[in-house]
Amino acid sequence: MHTPGHADRHHRPVRTAIVGTGGIAEGGHLPALRALAADVDVVAAVDVDPDKLAGFGDRWDIRGRYTSLTAMLAAESPDLVIVATPPVLHREHVAEALASGAWVFCEKPPALSLAEYDEMVAGERDGGPYAPIVFQLRYGPGARHYRKLVTSGVLGRPLVVQCQTTWFRGPDYFEPEWRGNFRGDGGPAMAMGIHNIDLMLTMAGPWQEVSAFAATTSRDIATDDVSTAVVRFESGALGTIVNSAVSPQSVSHLRIDTELATVKLTHLYRYRNSDWSCTPAEGIDDQLAAGWANDLPDEETNHLSQLRDVVADFRAERRPDTSGDGGRAALELITALYKSAFTGQTVKRGEIGVDDPFYHALDGSAQ
Ligand SMILES: NC(=O)c1ccc[n+]([C@@H]2O[C@H](COP(=O)([O-])OP(=O)(O)OC[C@H]3O[C@@H](n4cnc5c(N)ncnc54)[C@H](O)[C@@H]3O)[C@@H](O)[C@H]2O)c1
Repeated sequence: MHTPGHADRHHRPVRTAIVGTGGIAEGGHLPALRALAADVDVVAAVDVDPDKLAGFGDRWDIRGRYTSLTAMLAAESPDLVIVATPPVLHREHVAEALASGAWVFCEKPPALSLAEYDEMVAGERDGGPYAPIVFQLRYGPGARHYRKLVTSGVLGRPLVVQCQTTWFRGPDYFEPEWRGNFRGDGGPAMAMGIHNIDLMLTMAGPWQEVSAFAATTSRDIATDDVSTAVVRFESGALGTIVNSAVSPQSVSHLRIDTELATVKLTHLYRYRNSDWSCTPAEGIDDQLAAGWANDLPDEETNHLSQLRDVVADFRAERRPDTSGDGGRAALELITALYKSAFTGQTVKRGEIGVDDPFYHALDGSAQ
């Protein structure tokens, strides 16, 4: 179903609705949408909690308020629906919004299984609608710059990769039943590590095989609270991944040793150019230092960094980088990490197909 307004998509503001008016809607999406106010018109908000909806609608001056996504889609026919509901609802909400003809910008984790993901994006069509996933770390100046340098050969091939998401979440964080649950938030690798893992894959290229451990070291939860993995990349590079919810000093760390330099990113949740460093190999200091100089604007990486691209893609009717296979890559690696941890086997990319129990559930159990 397309509204007449879809035709002049190149010029008029993108009519946007948000479903889920909780923490990330308030702190991530609305500030980004307001920063793009000339390009984006927020026409509606949806939440099953009427009090939250009213407070959110008042604070952000949003006219259309609905307690049901279905009712909102019927009444407003938005161009773009931002899905900021808990992960267990992403499949249903994304599929319904795509079926209405709207593009979707869906929060991470994309879904709680590969089966859910494949089902939820089945409504994508060539030229749109598409359903990109929020992976904002890909869109910061440092990450864009690194990819340009690798593509142009300035850094050489990636050889060694370290991807560490070691955060602290106390027992109170896990009190809601859906947290620390494979059918709720998907565990720390899915809920927390996924940003860094997604960024790693865009910087180090596709993975080939993974071998992993997961353990519940100290939180009273149904998932692990720590997982570690060893990864072989298609390029031949080797890497390690650590995801933790129990590390007193919270930090996200990504380090890639290429043939010609060590590139390091150390931050928590969002980064600027100063959070990156590049240490050239002996003998090529001047050449590489000049190449690393980043003339992109030094802005903190947040939802706005990615929303700009989503709006541009919408106007150009172009597939966004984090939709389709691009939104699935980190989910597939995390699924393989858990399959390896639960089975004790090394898992290859592409082997988790529809007949595999891990395709349907992160812990490989029947739903
Ligand atoms: N990209 C990031 O950096 C980032 C950071 C934090 C959270 N997130 C993700 O954002 C999503 C939401 O997380 P949050 O922290 O905002 O959660 P939250 O619990 O604060 O908000 C979720 C909202 O969804 C509403 N809701 C529940 N069921 C609904 C339904 N059927 N229809 C409409 N609304 C419904 C709830 O009432 C609540 O207001 C999660 O997927 C989370 O992983 C992403």
